[in-house]
Amino acid sequence: HRKYVAFPPVRKRNRLWPDQVIQKAPTWCAVDLRDGNQALVKPMSVAQKQRLFDLLVKLGFKEIEIGFPAASQPDFEFCRKLIDENRIPGDVTIQVLTQARAELIARTFEALKGASRAVVHVYNSTSTVQREQVFGLDREGIRRIAVSGAEIVRDFAAGYPDTDWTFQYSPESFTGTELDFAVEVIDAVNDVWRPDCGQKVIINLPATVEMSTPNVFADQVEWVCDHIRYREHVSVSVHTHNDRGCAVAAAELAVMAGADRVEGTLMGNGERTGNMDLVTMAMNLYSQGVDPCLDLSGMAEITDVVEACTEIPTHPRHPYAGELVFTAFSGSHQDAIRKCLAQCDEGQAWNVAYLPINPSDVGRRYDEVVRINSQSGKGGVAYVLERDYGISLPRWLQIEFSKLVQKEAERNGGELDSDTIHGLFESCYLQV
Ligand code: KIV
Ligand code: ZN
Repeated sequence: HRKYVAFPPVRKRNRLWPDQVIQKAPTWCAVDLRDGNQALVKPMSVAQKQRLFDLLVKLGFKEIEIGFPAASQPDFEFCRKLIDENRIPGDVTIQVLTQARAELIARTFEALKGASRAVVHVYNSTSTVQREQVFGLDREGIRRIAVSGAEIVRDFAAGYPDTDWTFQYSPESFTGTELDFAVEVIDAVNDVWRPDCGQKVIINLPATVEMSTPNVFADQVEWVCDHIRYREHVSVSVHTHNDRGCAVAAAELAVMAGADRVEGTLMGNGERTGNMDLVTMAMNLYSQGVDPCLDLSGMAEITDVVEACTEIPTHPRHPYAGELVFTAFSGSHQDAIRKCLAQCDEGQAWNVAYLPINPSDVGRRYDEVVRINSQSGKGGVAYVLERDYGISLPRWLQIEFSKLVQKEAERNGGELDSDTIHGLFESCYLQV
C-alpha cells in the first residue's frame, strides 16, 4: 500500500504521541457475533451467524468473538456447531464472553469443550456508577468478583489441557472507573493468571460508554499501560463504543498510545450507537500506507452480508462503503477529479482531489465517481461523454453543451444517466 502516503502530522507542543502515525496494524478481534448480535432488534439465526463468521474469516480476521454461550442458547449451539463440525480454520481463534460467575464460567467451558484454541473473555463492571448503584459494592467487593472469576477460569482451563487457552479480562465500564482502581483490579487478575509464567493474557479496556474526547481515552489507555504489572507479558486491547461518534478515532489514538489490539464490528453494528467500525479503521490505515492485514477489496459483498445478517441498511455516506462516498455531483469537484485522474499513473502515489483512496481498491467502479445532476458542470459532462462514448469535446462545446444538460437536469429534477446525456448530445449536435 505504498501508493498511499501518510499526511505529515502536526507536532503539538504539549502532546507528543509515542508514534505520531500508526506504523503497523493492531491485532483485530471482530465482535460482530457477540456485541453486534446482542444489540439487534432480531438476533441472528445460527445460519446468519455462520454466514457472517465465514465472511469474517474470508476477510482475514484471526480472532472472532462468537458469542456469550452461557447467556444464550443459540450462542451455545453456534459455538458447539463450529467445534463439532470442524468449521474453525487452523489460524483462527474463537473467543467467547462470560461474566465472572462460577455457573456461567462452567457453562462457557462446556460450550468450548474440544476446541483446539480459544479465548475465554471474562468481565465484571468496575465503574463508580455500577459499583454504587447497580451492585451496591465497594472497591474491595468488585475486586473480589474479578479475582474469583480469574481463579475459576484458571481452574477450569486446567481441566482441559488439550485446548490452547488465552484468558481475557475486561474491567467493563472502564471509562467510568478511577484509573488507580482499574490498575488495582487488573493487577489482581494477573496475579492469578501469571502471564509472566507463560499464560497468554489479553487485558481489554472497554469504552463501554464513550465518555470523553478520544485523546482523553487514549491518555487513560497509556496510563494503564504505564502502571500495570506484567505489561510486557500481556496484550493490551481496546473496545470502543461510538456514543460520541468517535469510536474509530478513540481506537486509533489508543493504538498510538500503546494498545496492541482492537475489538470492533463490521460497519460498526453494536450496542446503542454501535461498536468501533472495523471497516473504517482498517481503511484509514490502508489510506495511510499501512497494510491492515485484512482484505476489504470486495466492499459490496461485505455490505451485502452484513445487511443480510443484521437487517440494518448501510448508510449511503458510510465511510469507504456507502453508495455515495466516491461520488461527485458538483461541477468544481468533477472538474478537479477529471484533471487528477488524467494525470494519475499506475504505480504512482494516489493523489486525486476529493478521493481519499482509489475507489477500485474497495471494488468500486469509476462510473460511480462522476454523476450528473443540475449542479454538475462542464468537466463532469465532458468526462461522462469521453468515458462512456469516447467523445472528446472542445472546451467551447463543453461550456455550451453543459448548459443544455443543466437545463435538462433542472427540468427532470434529479440525476441524468450517461445514455440520456448522449441522447441529448446527439439530438443537439449530430442530427442532420
Ligand atoms: O462494551 C463493553 O464493555 C463490552 C464488554 C463486555 C467488553 O462489550
Ligand atoms: Zn461492547
